[in-house]
This record gives sequence, C-alpha cells and structure tokens, in this order.
Amino acid sequence: MPHDAVLRTERTRLSPFAWADGEQLLALFREPEVRGFLLDDVIVSPAWMADEIEQSRERFARGSAGLWSVRLAGAADVVGFAGFREFFHPPELQLLYGFLPAQWGKGLATEVTASVCDYAFGELGFDEITAATDLPNTASARVLRRLGMQLVRTTDDGPAGTALFALPRAVWLRRQAAAEG
Ligand SMILES: CC(C)(COP(=O)(O)OP(=O)(O)OC[C@H]1O[C@@H](n2cnc3c(N)ncnc32)[C@H](O)[C@@H]1OP(=O)(O)O)[C@@H](O)C(=O)NCCC(=O)NCCS
Repeated sequence: MPHDAVLRTERTRLSPFAWADGEQLLALFREPEVRGFLLDDVIVSPAWMADEIEQSRERFARGSAGLWSVRLAGAADVVGFAGFREFFHPPELQLLYGFLPAQWGKGLATEVTASVCDYAFGELGFDEITAATDLPNTASARVLRRLGMQLVRTTDDGPAGTALFALPRAVWLRRQAAAEG
C-alpha cells in the first residue's frame, strides 16, 4: 500500500495534506475554537500553514505518517484534520486532530483518529502512538481514552499543564480483536 494513502471511514474521507487544501486548512487552524488549545490561540500565518503541508508531505514521502485533511464522505469542504506531527527535541511523532465546531459531538474525531491509528499500526508498523493535550482540553482527552490511550503523566508544559497519553500496539490489537468478537 502506498504510504500516502487516502483513508475512508464510515462517514469521512481522509486525504494527505496537499497544497490545494491550503486555504481551507488555514481557515480551519485559524478558527477560534480550534486554535485555542491547539495553538495557544495564536493566529497562524499562511507561511506556517505552507510549512505544515510541506513537512507532512515529506513525512509521507519518507514512508512515515503525516497529516490528513478530513472531508465528510461525498463532500468537498475540509471539516477537520488528523494524523501525525513531530513535537519536542529530539522530534517525536504524536497524534493530532481538530474539527470545525459544527462537527463536534458526533463522534467524528473518534472515528477518524481510530482510522489513522489503524493505519499507523497496521501499515507503518508503529510500536506505540503518543499524544499530548492541554490539561483543560477534556474533550480531547475523552477522544484519546475512547481510543484506548492511557494517561502516562502530566507536566507543567504549556499555559495550563499538559497530559501525555500513550497507546501501545499490543493494546490496540487486543481492542481490535475484542471489537471484532
Ligand atoms: C478535540 C475535538 C476534536 C473533540 O471533538 P468531539 O466532537 O468532542 O469528539 P468526537 O468527534 O469524538 O465526538 C465525541 C462526542 O460525540 C458524542 N457522539 C455522538 N455520536 C457519536 C458516535 N457515533 N460515536 C462516538 N461519539 C459520538 C460522544 O458522546 C462524545 O461526546 P462526549 O465527549 O461529550 O461524551 C474538538 O474539541 C476539537 O476539534 N478541538 C479543537 C482542536 C483540538 O483541541 N485538538 C486536540 C489537540 S490535542
């Protein structure tokens, strides 16, 4: 399977970040309710967005995982994003996601993040997936717990502290097997 795969879930279609999505992605990352926790409320520039797209394309090209634009099945507009991005020094790939507020409360983030985790474990051979959330971002923590992620530790990083979560491959496979009955 190519490492820049288009993924499909029951309700969505995921395509790797592409230049053609740049404007819609910039609007998504600038959305006040999206940027609050995700970007500490910073209004990112077109150059920042272009750099994210470029880094994502490079990670897919290297056979690793980048970020995907999320559209509702059969629709044209980008309503969210999900995938993997590097944080920290040395860089560590972490799961990241965000949706327009109009799409919240429907389980789309849970559906989409499950799909990218499945891809990372199944196609890319990841041993573990990690994620970090601002401590007050309880909706995001609920998404991670629904995936089976466990809280590893909390730190003082960021404006209100950070929660670090991890999902080992073995736990994911066990949950998948249980779900398939
Ligand atoms: C984090 C974020 C994606 C969570 O969105 P969300 O809508 O709460 O998450 P989901 O799409 O998984 O929806 C789950 C909610 O929908 C409900 N729901 C409705 N139908 C559902 C379904 N079919 N399946 C699962 N959940 C469903 C659930 O009960 C749940 O509500 P609850 O958490 O109050 O119990 C969203 O808040 C966001 O985009 N925030 C801005 C970006 C951000 O902070 N990203 C995280 C960076 S670490």
